[in-house]
Amino acid sequence: MERAIEKPAGPAVDVTPDARVPIEIPLSRPDITDVERSMVMAVLDRPTLSLGPELEAFEEGVARLTGAKHAVGVSSGTAGLHLAVRALDLGPGDEVVTTPFSFIASSNCLLYERVRPIFADIDPTSLNLDPRAAEAAIGAKTRAILVVHVFGVPADMEAFGRIAGRWGLPIIEDACEALGARTPGGMAGAAGDAGVFAFYPNKQITTGEGGMLVTNRDDVAARARCERNQGRGPEWTRFERVGFNYRMSEIHAALGRAQLSRASEILARRRRAAALYRELLAGIPGVETLPDVPGASPFVFVIRAETPHLRDRIREGLRRRGIETGIYFPPIHLEPPYRDRFGFRPGQFPKAEDADPAGDPLLHGDPRRGDGAGRGGGPRDGPVRDVLTRARKHLPETNVSESVLGGI
Ligand SMILES: Cc1ncc(COP(=O)(O)O)c(C=O)c1O
Repeated sequence: MERAIEKPAGPAVDVTPDARVPIEIPLSRPDITDVERSMVMAVLDRPTLSLGPELEAFEEGVARLTGAKHAVGVSSGTAGLHLAVRALDLGPGDEVVTTPFSFIASSNCLLYERVRPIFADIDPTSLNLDPRAAEAAIGAKTRAILVVHVFGVPADMEAFGRIAGRWGLPIIEDACEALGARTPGGMAGAAGDAGVFAFYPNKQITTGEGGMLVTNRDDVAARARCERNQGRGPEWTRFERVGFNYRMSEIHAALGRAQLSRASEILARRRRAAALYRELLAGIPGVETLPDVPGASPFVFVIRAETPHLRDRIREGLRRRGIETGIYFPPIHLEPPYRDRFGFRPGQFPKAEDADPAGDPLLHGDPRRGDGAGRGGGPRDGPVRDVLTRARKHLPETNVSESVLGGI
């Protein structure tokens, strides 16, 4: 596939898994204890396996954590985003301003309803949608702004709130990677008109598969509750709308409730791990981490390398030490469903493309800053190895291995 930016030539680095070195620290691992086991097992002894007390309690818990008036449990983050788009009555002919630098589901939810995504570029420091670029992209057909809190780094909801107010637009927050994050304008997810969390196993808390829509709007909550359950109204046998089966089972909800009861412990451990990685990686030439934004809820830990070659060398060094890493997705506008449908081209959102040259952050390289570093086993990856060796010594103490911070 054609890419926005070609990788500079350099000796190939093998980063495929090596069977001789078992993965000790995977990219992500759910944090499951006996609390989760016993709560899930208890559900199996009850008559209600769907739409029961576990779901209600889990919803109440997420509403409390976020300060939102309503929380509606659903089968995935994607389902929640789809319901949010529908609950705001967005449809064919409408446009929504959003970020190209995200997991693709944050834009696919618009395509499901034939809404056109209008991408705006990102802030290269936070990697989140740039409020000024978003405002400049608002046009006559814009009906909403869809903000993503990428990697658990809170977007500036104060700024987006002002923009939404000026233009009379609702805000959808994709907070799928950001449970527990605080933004300047309120808790992530609860600062706009509808916010969505995801509970896939790599997320801060997991239900296996699952999601939750939160909102302070009664109309949005009512519509989401109706449409997650086949469009039913108060009576089980009557259907008010065309809906979906986006329900969350009691088994999933029980797992979520158990995880939520441990959320402050899980989030604190992730924050400690992120602080440790940040400290150990500080000041290494050619290596950057994302800024330490107050209120962030660490999702994956992003390491940015100056060049793809240095990135691959770091990945290889980590792999040899049994540490799994991954590479982030290419920007959404360059993926075939978007290029083919809307004619997007490389270069249209340069900051999003720079953040992800050849699809790379989470150990990523920026060839535009020039190569040379680390090439041919140069000096620059030496410090990285030292740091990682020191990091490994700290790992058992800080239980980093149980966190889902990718990369180290
Ligand atoms: C930013 C973002 N949006 C949406 C989703 C979709 O969530 P799910 O996988 O639960 O459908 C995810 C998670 O994978 C995500 O990271």
